Amino acid sequence: MDLTTRFMGLELRNPIIVGSSGMTGTVEGVKLMADSGAGAVALKSLFEEEILMQISSMSGSGAIVNNYGEASDYMRYYVREENVGNYLKLIEGAKKAVSIPVIASVNCVSTGEWTSYAKALQDAGADALELNIFIMPSDPKYNSENIEKRYFDIVADVKKLVTIPISLKIGHQFSGMAHFMAALSNTGISGLVLFNRFYSPDIDLKTLTMTAMPVYTNPEDLALPLRWIGILAGKVKCDMSASTGIHTGSALAKVLLAGAASAHVATAIYKNGANYIGVMLEDLTAWMGTHGFKKIDDFRGRLNQKNIDDPLHYEQAQFMKYFSHHGKN
Ligand SMILES: Cc1cc2nc3c(=O)[nH]c(=O)nc-3n(C[C@H](O)[C@H](O)[C@H](O)COP(=O)(O)O)c2cc1C
Repeated sequence: MDLTTRFMGLELRNPIIVGSSGMTGTVEGVKLMADSGAGAVALKSLFEEEILMQISSMSGSGAIVNNYGEASDYMRYYVREENVGNYLKLIEGAKKAVSIPVIASVNCVSTGEWTSYAKALQDAGADALELNIFIMPSDPKYNSENIEKRYFDIVADVKKLVTIPISLKIGHQFSGMAHFMAALSNTGISGLVLFNRFYSPDIDLKTLTMTAMPVYTNPEDLALPLRWIGILAGKVKCDMSASTGIHTGSALAKVLLAGAASAHVATAIYKNGANYIGVMLEDLTAWMGTHGFKKIDDFRGRLNQKNIDDPLHYEQAQFMKYFSHHGKN
């Protein structure tokens, strides 16, 4: 069975990309993922703040530190521990240790000084660059146009500096979703990673303090990327990789059928160990066998919105409408 696929111009031996996370934050971790069969790895993200802190400490201004207020102590610590230099070493080490593509990752929210470091990531050997962008639309001063413009500005700035393929890992809460995704794909990016996952606040009722929601996803979370990859397939000018809720070989088969080129997987590997990559691939292979598919392109996109008899299936959102339409209840 041929599981090879292409994502953002990179040849992958199979569609599983280990998602950016602690598992890909060390050379040993990356090697383990490659030895366990991953098609590619997205390295643990470097945070825009880390890059700015590095610049700030080099210039001795401290200005950036002050901008981050109470978080600055944490930031200082974090920068000491995991500064840009270490990240470049991670890229170099990972590239030496494995033969699968290594995707560098930056978490960012703005344009400006940090983007000058994008070239360093390329020079360290990264095969591609994933920009994990999430701009919290929490300030009433900024409308959707202002916020969306920042995504375009970041891409434009980074694109000027690097020649390796760029992907955007983004969220799903845009009112003009299809329009925005299509427009982003016209900027020359090579991939959309749908979707990113971010810290969510929770409240501890016992201690009356703020805490965090669990970071792991659930298998049902697959619904989000499945819908949007199905809808966007053929409407965007770049490859798509599913991320969020791909916990099994079956889930992997589904996002490929909807039109994804690959899938970023994190939670399932965290929970089951690196060997689980092989289990997911075996399940995918077995399922392909039952349908007589010999390679991914035999079925990729077969059930995207353009290829199904009832395209509204991807758009139905109200349960009442769904049930009456199908004559149920
Ligand atoms: C512990 C943990 C750490 C993560 N760290 C990052 C990160 O640094 N950068 C990033 O872009 N995504 C990060 N993610 C998100 C994952 O890469 C992935 O997109 C997300 O978990 C959805 O995939 P999943 O359903 O397979 O977990 C992290 C996820 C987890 C669980």
